Amino acid sequence: MDFMDSVLIVGGGGREHALLKAFLRSDRPLCLYAYPGNPGMERDGCMLVNQPISSWDDLADWAKENEINLTVVGPEAPLAEGIVDTFKKRGLLAFGPSKAAAQIESSKAFSKKLMKKYGIPTADFQVFTSKAAALAYVEEKNTPVVVKASGLAAGKGVIMCDTLKEAKTALADIFDKKIFGEAGDTVIIEEKMVGEEASVFAITDGKSYKILPVAQDHKRIGDGDTGPNTGGMGAYAPTPAVSAKMLAKIEKEIIIPTLAAMEKEKAKFKGVLFVGLMLTKDGPKVIEYNCRFGDPETQAIMPLVQCDWYKAFRECASIRGNVASVKWDIDPGYCASVVMASKGYPGKFAKNKVITGIDSADEKTAVDVYYAGISEDKKKEKLLTSGGRVLAVSAKGGTLAEAIALAYGGVAEIEFEGAQFRRDIGAKGL
Ligand code: AMP
Ligand code: GLY
Repeated sequence: MDFMDSVLIVGGGGREHALLKAFLRSDRPLCLYAYPGNPGMERDGCMLVNQPISSWDDLADWAKENEINLTVVGPEAPLAEGIVDTFKKRGLLAFGPSKAAAQIESSKAFSKKLMKKYGIPTADFQVFTSKAAALAYVEEKNTPVVVKASGLAAGKGVIMCDTLKEAKTALADIFDKKIFGEAGDTVIIEEKMVGEEASVFAITDGKSYKILPVAQDHKRIGDGDTGPNTGGMGAYAPTPAVSAKMLAKIEKEIIIPTLAAMEKEKAKFKGVLFVGLMLTKDGPKVIEYNCRFGDPETQAIMPLVQCDWYKAFRECASIRGNVASVKWDIDPGYCASVVMASKGYPGKFAKNKVITGIDSADEKTAVDVYYAGISEDKKKEKLLTSGGRVLAVSAKGGTLAEAIALAYGGVAEIEFEGAQFRRDIGAKGL
């Protein structure tokens, strides 16, 4: 034990469980901790921080006391709050962008202006802080627009408006009713783009980077992309929507210029740059940047990438790290990940439903179950639903069709009252 390096994972969803399993697959023995983690992570041998934490300073204290060698941050909120800066000040190495660099996600006004300044392809837009000016703009445009809160809104700050009436309602909701709170004090109005979407992840030390297999998320709740937006109902990778040639274009026109732009703006981006793309007829354009791994994309990507993750993340986080020195082994096959959600999600959802069948699904070769909104009963005997997105079932296959069939085979084993999941995850890629 003495010679083992220690890692702390921050977060407790399916994405963080997938990061944990990726660490477990690498050959390096590690002592793994999570805050807050989840029961699935605990079952996999990860220790959960069992001390009250009321600030990132508290967590840094805990990390110091427990001699943590590397902290990997999953969600955007701690990154936007500056957790990496807090850890750095204490001499602790943390994977993820600084607070300044996290603005690429936490402020759409920042990221849109960055793209405009550096000629990175994205939808045309205007930034507004007054309702009157925003109204005048949509009236003058009188075309379909997308209205977005500039700040973090848990993936829900986007309103698609096909008519002027819808745009006016959206502006009233944001400026008068404050449906997004402070996140909506600044509003972006942009041109509506049309095309397939893709999620590109570049793990970076700020200069060199490694692009992971490109994933496609399924944002809507219903089959055939119907119904309201969710955090993501499933993903698969790699997506044939992005050819090698297209990926080269994305690197040249988007990834490289974005990293260079961030360095120029004195906000060097270290961590994982997640570029949400629309593949328009005029070429790939940025919908938005995120400063972290995607959920559920991570559950579909990580099973395909074998490497010494401890080294990879440390190379990204260290001052003189070099991601190019990491040896990557990318599986030639496919991975599909299907999310199972609670009844009512993405609206008000049911809780405390008993979940059965996870172990039998997990036992199937090629299938991994990632816990998300799951808690245990007091005796730690039963698993109960506790969140909107409850879990994700991922499977690998030589072909995409095989991966999809295996993932749904796993889903078929798992039951809880009111479980909802899409039946067409990955179908777009077939
Ligand atoms: P975001 O939170 O910015 O990723 O937006 C959520 C979803 O809204 C995206 O995945 C797209 O499906 C859609 N979206 C956002 N911006 C645009 C746009 N300019 N044109 C078309 N769809 C968009
Ligand atoms: N799946 C999209 C996201 O993580 O934001």
